[in-house]
Amino acid sequence: MYTQLEQRAMDAPPINVASLAKMKAEGVPIACITAYDASFAAVVDRAGIDVVLVGDSLGMVIQGHDTTVPVTVDDIVYHSKAVARGLRHAFLMADMPFMSYTSPEQALDNAVRLMQEGGAMMIKLEGGEGQIEIVEHLARHDIPVCAHIGLKPQSVHKIGGFKVQGRDPEQAQRMVEAAKRLEAVGADIVLLECVPNELGAAITDAVHVPVIGIGAGPEVDGQILVLYDVLGITLGRVPRFVRNYAQDTHSPLEAVQHFVASVKDKSYPAPEHCFS
Ligand code: KIV
Repeated sequence: MYTQLEQRAMDAPPINVASLAKMKAEGVPIACITAYDASFAAVVDRAGIDVVLVGDSLGMVIQGHDTTVPVTVDDIVYHSKAVARGLRHAFLMADMPFMSYTSPEQALDNAVRLMQEGGAMMIKLEGGEGQIEIVEHLARHDIPVCAHIGLKPQSVHKIGGFKVQGRDPEQAQRMVEAAKRLEAVGADIVLLECVPNELGAAITDAVHVPVIGIGAGPEVDGQILVLYDVLGITLGRVPRFVRNYAQDTHSPLEAVQHFVASVKDKSYPAPEHCFS
């Protein structure tokens, strides 16, 4: 975290919502990653990451649960506070966990906690058509919002597993319409998880706000991965879109620098990381 006075002395100003919009407009890929503590936050910040997400994936990679469902607002606030202390340049986004945005009022109360207590600059929630009213309410109160569509891990028990979404043309069309509606009511970013390349490209064309993909192909405005996947810490079977950057590097800093470079030069994702 930086104070106003420190910020004035910085060579490059910290990333904000306007610089992210400018990156989309100028075709500069946006490199995003998750982090859950101050030490790794400082490493990814130094590596040149644009956006750091305190994701509810912490339920799986930090807490050891099978899904993100058990994560609470208190958990996100705790980790967000720590991450905020490690950042100087990157933009901090924090996840609204399962059932923390069931009404506009509840969503606003919890988003305010993530921003005031956790230091987040934007909140992310999983939602499509069903969350329009919530996103509109948050946007009306000037809460920056990232709308996460496609595979929504908080719905894993409803959809029966972590599966690619939008292969069916009608579902794909509904997703494009949902992205447009979410933008129209005030979403500042769309995050798109596990969809075929073609749908990733269609949604990116359909909206003016940045679209960040994870398993959404190369034609989105930016890429995000879970830090522990980038560092090769995750054992066993990993999702197709994961690339282990620790294999050919000597430190976590170098691994994340390679991830940033591969997002910026668009060598990631390669065809083997994509869905059709
Ligand atoms: O919780 C998380 O880490 C996420 C990313 C995988 C996008 O939502």
